[in-house]
Amino acid sequence: MTTPSLTIRPPSGKLAVLLPGLGAVATTFIAGVLLARRGLGSPIGSLTQMGTLRLGGPNGERSSLVRDAVPLATMDDLVFGAWDIFPEDALDVARHAEVLESRHLDPIAEELREIQPMKGAFYARYVRRLNGTHVKEASSKAEMVEHLREDIRSFIRRHGAARAVAIWCGSTEVFLPPSAVHQSIEAFEAGLASDDPGISSSQLYAWACIKERVPFANGAPNLTVDFPAAWLLAKEMRVPLAGKDFKTGQTLLKTILAPGIKARSLGVHGWFSTNILGNRDGEVLDDPDNFKTKEASKLGVLEEILQPQQHPELYGDLYHKVRIEYYPPRGDAKEGWDNLDIFGWLGYPMQIKVNFLCRDSILAAPIVLDLALLLDLAARAGLHGTQEWLGFYFKSPMPTPESRPEHDLFIQSMKLKNTLRWMIGESAERPQGGGSFE
Ligand SMILES: NC(=O)c1ccc[n+]([C@@H]2O[C@H](COP(=O)([O-])OP(=O)(O)OC[C@H]3O[C@@H](n4cnc5c(N)ncnc54)[C@H](O)[C@@H]3O)[C@@H](O)[C@H]2O)c1
Repeated sequence: MTTPSLTIRPPSGKLAVLLPGLGAVATTFIAGVLLARRGLGSPIGSLTQMGTLRLGGPNGERSSLVRDAVPLATMDDLVFGAWDIFPEDALDVARHAEVLESRHLDPIAEELREIQPMKGAFYARYVRRLNGTHVKEASSKAEMVEHLREDIRSFIRRHGAARAVAIWCGSTEVFLPPSAVHQSIEAFEAGLASDDPGISSSQLYAWACIKERVPFANGAPNLTVDFPAAWLLAKEMRVPLAGKDFKTGQTLLKTILAPGIKARSLGVHGWFSTNILGNRDGEVLDDPDNFKTKEASKLGVLEEILQPQQHPELYGDLYHKVRIEYYPPRGDAKEGWDNLDIFGWLGYPMQIKVNFLCRDSILAAPIVLDLALLLDLAARAGLHGTQEWLGFYFKSPMPTPESRPEHDLFIQSMKLKNTLRWMIGESAERPQGGGSFE
């Protein structure tokens, strides 16, 4: 028997999963959970459901499914709520998104039909490609936050939920750097009252959730919870946060490949990545200001993994370029191409070509499930502020003020599992030969 390092409240009662943005990712996630509950599908790609944890110390030979070793809520405990700026219910959205086939949607059609989005908090200047029709009215952004808080309370009441978590699955907003309004709780509250343009729609949801002590994760590259006022409020309210931008598709592969190339001390001259994507996300990203937010998130990855300042001969002149092209015929079935110009012994050049025919929402859905369950675990364990150990799931992992972002998927995975082991009182395994995992 081991002694847990933390007192973790048991996951009793229902867990409300609140999703600002009821689009392709959100409906694919919800449908997958409903199907898995009925034994009609498998939650593949979810570490909490399919992954294992080695127990019994660094040389431990016991291994357990994560969900058996760690006191997580189960998929049966979840109830789903959402906001969107369009009124379609989850069934209509899922049918239009064309991610899942009728054989998967038909058996759960009634349950999906019941998930109707609450009206969204939406200021069009942050997502110009969408013309929302199902939106809240408010005299100020401060009042809008109060409306969202009331939505959260009444959803929890209506569904008899014991706790809630929220995951931003809404569109990517235009690029917004943090400004004076983001630096303190007081400045942010004043900005809400005066409708400061630096405060976007997604930040209103985040603020409302933190105020209601609802843990919040950000699946898009927006600022949302990545600024000092949000961190300070989360500390004050003891709420865990995580972000940002789900790590799926091309970036997932990049953070698998780049550590391997670096481990073998091979050089990289250039890395060109391009995608075609035809869903609503692709349409929003067709606006250069919205793409800029995504680009910043995608570009940081290689710099952090390869560390050119430490290895100037190998990565000092690396040229990294990322493109996303909106191409409607493809829908959600994104296709990504990567060209890597690498070099080896004596500088001889080589090339690697990667062609990933992926499905965006199929890769993102298990991340939403894991984040919901792990953020809830963090809250029940009394953890608050940025949960750096959840960086595994993000393109732009939010670091704590004391740490730098870690992008290497293998170090991220070790950090996550070590944190889980630590929570349940199992001794953590350390990476052999060092590694910045602590
Ligand atoms: N699918 C992936 O692999 C992946 C990876 C990383 C990040 N993301 C991000 O996840 C988000 C969701 O992706 P998706 O494919 O489901 O997109 P989507 O366009 O299908 O869904 C987004 C939904 O958000 C709604 N929305 C926009 N602003 C809103 C607001 N203020 N309030 C409430 N709803 C709002 C839109 O109406 C839409 O229904 C996007 O920001 C995307 O960039 C997706």
